[in-house]
Amino acid sequence: MGPDRHRRDSTVVPMALTETSPSATGAAAAGSPWFRSPTLLKVFAWAAVISNGGIAVTGATVRVTGSGLGCETWPECQPGTLIPEARTGLEGIHQAIEFGNRTLTGVVLIASLGTFLFAWLARPRRSSVVRLALAGPLGVLFQAVWGGVVVRTELTWWTVAPHMLVSLVLLFFAIAVVVRLGEPDAPARPVVPKPLVVLARVTVVVLGALCVAGTLVTAAGPHGGDAETPRLELPVRTLAQIHADLMFTYIGLLVALTVGFLAVKAPRKLIRRSWILVGVTAGQGLIGLVQYATGVPEALVVAHVAGAVLLVGAAAAMLFATRERPAVAVGAPV
Ligand code: HEM
Repeated sequence: MGPDRHRRDSTVVPMALTETSPSATGAAAAGSPWFRSPTLLKVFAWAAVISNGGIAVTGATVRVTGSGLGCETWPECQPGTLIPEARTGLEGIHQAIEFGNRTLTGVVLIASLGTFLFAWLARPRRSSVVRLALAGPLGVLFQAVWGGVVVRTELTWWTVAPHMLVSLVLLFFAIAVVVRLGEPDAPARPVVPKPLVVLARVTVVVLGALCVAGTLVTAAGPHGGDAETPRLELPVRTLAQIHADLMFTYIGLLVALTVGFLAVKAPRKLIRRSWILVGVTAGQGLIGLVQYATGVPEALVVAHVAGAVLLVGAAAAMLFATRERPAVAVGAPV
């Protein structure tokens, strides 16, 4: 009786692990209507990550292939039609690339709106996830309106640069949603000493400045998206120098951070993500240097934007691993 009872107790306790862990949420949803499925929510959240990253790359393809005015108006592609029609003066390939990019906006919108709606409908509703997920549809709405401004100002650099940067910010938020879905709701606590958490946040700020500088190099460079587009009248060389200097600052800080993580014996997951980030940054820097030295060939420009997307993903993964949300035991004092 005694040992039997002990065995029963020891199996019951771990199963009743958390009140708000994702598995508990999944259990609560068992037998619930399909729209409360945690799996569906995760699928939409991942689709938002992938489509937000993808649209930054297709947007760059539009720019370097000079397809920006492949659709002449917004929201219609050409006056009177939402889809491209053969017209004199417009090449089919440019129309296809610009129209493809606009279509992907629809995918980003469905993925972001779906994430928000399913997070809202989930039971229990996790307000932190709902708040984070709201950034997606609001951001896509902003981008859709701003995309119109980009077309109507004929791809002026000060409209194109924020369009690119907002995409990267939305990607960061989409990743934050996926991370939160995999965590319980307990308060976050750092897994490394505070100064290292602060340094990790500083690296994100430097990455932001690095990307802003990158868009200014683009703005002064040859790939405006259209031969007539007004350019930023500043020397490309100086801007590229500032951009590269920021990269060296960034990678220096990342190496210092990783050494700090090693010194305090941070969790292996964090150290691994930190090294991956250093590697992705070095790769991205190499693409940047080669494209600069070889006169910014189109394919490398697109690869550089894909690198920036990957880097934002790697930076978010590192940042979110600097803290954890331990599961709250049922019945534990709150
Ligand atoms: C971690 C390192 C780097 C990141 C995250 C980064 C990011 C970016 C971003 C976001 C853009 C703007 C793309 C756009 O507006 O569509 C850009 C453009 C650019 N970057 Fe970098 N970059 C990095 C390193 C470098 C380095 C070391 C160089 C060498 C000088 C470089 C050269 C360029 C050039 C020439 C452009 C303009 C390309 C064009 O004309 O479209 N980048 N970068």
